[in-house]
Amino acid sequence: MNPRTLTEPREPATDARLLDALAEIVGQAHVLTDPELIEGYTRDWTGRWIGDAIAVIRPGNTSEVSAVLRACFDAGVPVTPQGGNTGLVGGGIASAGSVVLSTRRLETIESVDPIGRTIAAGAGVTVARADLAASAHGLRFGIDLASKESATLGGIVATNAGGTRMVRYGNTRAQILGIEAVLADGSVLSRWTPLVKDNVGYDIPGLLAGSEGTLAVITKVLMKLVTPATDTQVVLAGVRDVDQALHLCNRVRQSGLTVEAAEIMTDDGISLVCAHTDARRPFGAPSPMYTLIEVSSPRETEESLLEVLSDSADLIEDATVEPGPARKLWTLRESHTESISASSTTPVVKLDISVPLSVMGMFIESLRETLADRFPLVRPILFGHFADGNIHVNLLDAEPRVAHELTDTVFRLVAAHHGSISAEHGIGRAKSPWISLGRTEADIAAMQLIKSSWDPRGILNPGILLPEKV
Ligand code: FAD
Ligand code: MLT
Ligand code: ZN
Repeated sequence: MNPRTLTEPREPATDARLLDALAEIVGQAHVLTDPELIEGYTRDWTGRWIGDAIAVIRPGNTSEVSAVLRACFDAGVPVTPQGGNTGLVGGGIASAGSVVLSTRRLETIESVDPIGRTIAAGAGVTVARADLAASAHGLRFGIDLASKESATLGGIVATNAGGTRMVRYGNTRAQILGIEAVLADGSVLSRWTPLVKDNVGYDIPGLLAGSEGTLAVITKVLMKLVTPATDTQVVLAGVRDVDQALHLCNRVRQSGLTVEAAEIMTDDGISLVCAHTDARRPFGAPSPMYTLIEVSSPRETEESLLEVLSDSADLIEDATVEPGPARKLWTLRESHTESISASSTTPVVKLDISVPLSVMGMFIESLRETLADRFPLVRPILFGHFADGNIHVNLLDAEPRVAHELTDTVFRLVAAHHGSISAEHGIGRAKSPWISLGRTEADIAAMQLIKSSWDPRGILNPGILLPEKV
């Protein structure tokens, strides 16, 4: 069947038959059709994407996921896989006539191997639970993000999430060893080996990382764990601009300290956080920007850090240092997303970009100038994991009618600076019209070939990531 036929109207009897079949598979209690119950699955976290679905299906194990997909495949009904629904690009939001396949009941932690340093767990396990399970063995989960209480392992793999520890341990793709996933026709694919060296053929777990629910439903993952850093120290320093923050980060590294996290914030962002939470401004006098850097070293971290800071008066306007975990300092950073959402009069246009470090300062300057010139009513708040090139561009008070033009303006500026239109949140619905700014025609054609061979009827997340073929 051509994917386009998915959007053609179906007989209501087809949907009714499908729902009966799905109830047989997962049990009536796990087929949600009541609009009030499904609302939490069809609206995204930002409020920007409001979808619809004929039902939310909550399978409890891999065989149920397989049977659900087989039934939807046979009926030609689109399926939107969904984990914690914390995604920020609308990738988990279904369109009318689709089924949402929620993985939240796949919540078994099968094992933590403290010697092999791995965790095997269901796709619906949250990042916070995986981290807690690892901590019980003196280890940590390598991905950390402010949405960890709800974001699931399947979701972070499907989006290839980055987060605040990316600069230290790499992104989610770098943490996966094995994966179990169900293809569109219901067949189960398992690449499950704890080996870190295993070069037999294509990297299937790597391919599913960042596939955003378009190739398969991830049901189980085998992921690396990391040794927690000891004796960490956190510095929050006021700086004039991002180039000074980059220089400071570089000096910290050259001193032999290990950078565990490196974040940038603006004074406007700090003001929003202080207005929306009980956080207090870090210094008496404001700085244009603030960098938060967490460091570790085998010994004398504090002394080494203080030495770097005292040699960096040329870069720093003011600074405060606290031993890790330094929750108060981290709260100033981690409360950005919620504070920004709460203070915009319209759904925030959230763009998540990266640029080469060498042009980051120039990019930010020209972004600010362009926005002030062309969209004077829009309030930009920038923050992000700057040491890996990632800046989160949040555009507040943007009228929905200008959202497309605004996004286009920012993305063209990103492309002109040789950056990426998606550093960590994925493409989803929000960015698929701009995918050609990040990939060549041949590259997009190769991805489309992979999509059509894995999902020949185009039932998995149509319209997400890759633009639909007409
Ligand atoms: P969902 O939102 O449910 O789904 C996201 C995408 O993955 C969709 O395309 C969906 O179809 C697909 N998907 C989900 N589960 C599966 C599965 N089992 N199989 C196949 N496809 C699946 N992201 C970052 O990268 N870094 C951050 O620092 C970060 N911080 C955040 C902070 C806040 C406060 C919030 C709200 C979000 C943040 N995010 C961040 C975004 C979000 O948390 C991540 O994208 C996360 O990976 C989504 O996980 P989820 O389980 O909620 O997935
Ligand atoms: C973050 O780094 O906090 C996230 O990616 C969320 C966001 O961009 O708002
Ligand atoms: Zn982020």
